[in-house]
Amino acid sequence: MAAVMKLFVIAFAAFLCISAADPDLLQDVCVADLTSAVKVNGFTCKDIANVTAEDFFSTVLAKPGLTNNTFGSLVTGANVQKIPGLNTLGLSLSRIDYASGGLNPPHTHPRATEIVFVLEGELDVGFITTANMLISKSIKKGEIFTFPKGLVHFQKNNGKVPAAVIAAFNSQLPGTQSIGATLFAATPPVPDNVLTKAFQVGTKEIDKIKSRLAPKK
Ligand SMILES: *[C@@H]1O[C@H](CO)[C@@H](O)[C@H](O)[C@H]1NC(C)=O
Ligand SMILES: *[C@@H]1O[C@H](CO)[C@@H](O)[C@H](O)[C@H]1NC(C)=O
Repeated sequence: MAAVMKLFVIAFAAFLCISAADPDLLQDVCVADLTSAVKVNGFTCKDIANVTAEDFFSTVLAKPGLTNNTFGSLVTGANVQKIPGLNTLGLSLSRIDYASGGLNPPHTHPRATEIVFVLEGELDVGFITTANMLISKSIKKGEIFTFPKGLVHFQKNNGKVPAAVIAAFNSQLPGTQSIGATLFAATPPVPDNVLTKAFQVGTKEIDKIKSRLAPKK
């Protein structure tokens, strides 16, 4: 009986793992109709008669993104919003470019695990577990690193030359929540008394961070 229970627990755990990513598709293709007003989990399907190869194609990652911004990095997404054919397929890519000194600041993807492949340069990367353990490594051209679903992670180019990665995600739209922007640049703003207490600092420090991270007008 104990063995049966054990098997059941393992099977249930396996089921939880499988169902933790985007749901499985129920037909060959479901190219997103990005203009439909109908709201579903994902996007409604275009009429198959109107589907073309272009729906599965993109050149969006072909060129480096511009990194002349505050953080010195740029994420270019190749997700269902750019490639409607990805709808219901449970995966997507991004390209991330980094200037020398550039940072992709700490953030999470609520719907996906991420795996990056370094195209150029070198990066110091890491993620933090829910037990607050930092797992970090320096990676270079040709190497791979993985960021488990939902965990806070970052990449920093401490090298002298630009760097770039291709990132793959097990979601058609992984979503990104950047810790700094989420807490200090939300609209309407997160109240100062929440942030002063959370970070154990005064209103002045909070307002300073808020002003630095305010969306550029
Ligand atoms: C398919 O394309 C035709 C011709 O362009 C258009 O009239 C029709 O509305 C489209 N159908 C859908 C479901 O998008
Ligand atoms: C970044 O560089 C591009 C092209 O050189 C330029 O058009 C753009 O205005 C620059 N952006 C910033 C924020 O400096």
